Amino acid sequence: MFQSKIAGIGYYVPKNVYTNQDLERFMDTSDAWIQERTGIKERRYADRLTETTTTMAVEAAKVAIERAKTTADAIDFVIFATLTPDYYFPGCAVLLQREMKMNEVGCLDIRNQCSGFVYALSIADQFIKTGMYKNILVVGSEKQSFAMDFSTRGRNVSVIFGDGAGAAVLQPTTEPGKGILSTHLHADGNYAEQLAMHYPGASAGYWLENKPNWPDKELGDLLITKEMLEDGSLFPYMDGQTVFKKAVVKFPEVIQEALTKNGLATTDIDLLVPHQANLRISQYIQKTLGLKDEQVVNNIQKYGNTTAASVPIALAEAWEEGRIKDGDLICLAAFGAGFTWGSALIRW
Ligand code: UT7
Repeated sequence: MFQSKIAGIGYYVPKNVYTNQDLERFMDTSDAWIQERTGIKERRYADRLTETTTTMAVEAAKVAIERAKTTADAIDFVIFATLTPDYYFPGCAVLLQREMKMNEVGCLDIRNQCSGFVYALSIADQFIKTGMYKNILVVGSEKQSFAMDFSTRGRNVSVIFGDGAGAAVLQPTTEPGKGILSTHLHADGNYAEQLAMHYPGASAGYWLENKPNWPDKELGDLLITKEMLEDGSLFPYMDGQTVFKKAVVKFPEVIQEALTKNGLATTDIDLLVPHQANLRISQYIQKTLGLKDEQVVNNIQKYGNTTAASVPIALAEAWEEGRIKDGDLICLAAFGAGFTWGSALIRW
């Protein structure tokens, strides 16, 4: 029986830096408000026309593949997590496969938002363990800047999210006790609408009763209507306080679940790489679990919340900074829309 190891990891963030002060030009907000509530100082936005979720993923993937000492044509499966795909369909995995001139390997898209990378890693882990694949590319990438409301109406969402990509290559290892020790996935669909982009979607008719001004036609016309544009319904919606309250409970719970499963304690964690949702959430997790500053990765100050890309970006950056050594116990954890959440324990 094999275990899977992360053989290479990389990330890419776009060049365009937008500080909190920059956002003050578009909406009624302030550097003080954003820093106090989220810890964010600046974020990156992809070039509006030349960069996409896929092109950023390709850049991250190139680095991960090189560090794994392999090549794109040796990749035998692709898993791509994003909530901001280039197209409504098909997903980004096939676009990345085409762009990187890979073979006709299977391509899977994951729609688990902030938990997307942890879910993707868990799927890749199962495929490696069974011996089905030997070189899986797992990617999380987001171009959120194309679909946010940068007016005051959307400020509670738009100041938080940023763009970027992270990627990892998973390979089998037979080294005892090394690699991914376990993954733990959860969801609670009762909160599906609390953090969501409701449109465009097949449920549009369901919402009509609350939208008396919307068109009520026999067929069609519900993909994107001018009413959706006018009242802002087309943009992502977030009930921030509900998300916050649930996140600070589920993050520590799923981390503890992973530790218990492996007979380990919080003191055994060398590095916790939490999804960068909000610095206050990460600080809360740290306090609840009694972790020291050096045990937790925080880079949301520079990149904002990059959703599916946040865990692999933080992991790759920590690795580049020399914060991850051979034999270290690394814990990944994420929580987000769905609600979905999960964790992974890795012996590096
Ligand atoms: O990745 C997982 C997904 N998301 C999260 O994890 C986010 C979790 N939630 C949060 O991080 C926080 O709820 C937010 C940072 C989104 C918001 O912080 P909050 O303390 O929950 O603020 P709030 O939504 O209750 O709003 C407080 C006030 C409101 O004004 P009034 O009604 O008190 O006058 C908002 O209109 O702050 C106002 N506000 C802003 N003011 C300046 C909301 N957004 C902004 C803004 N700038 N960007």
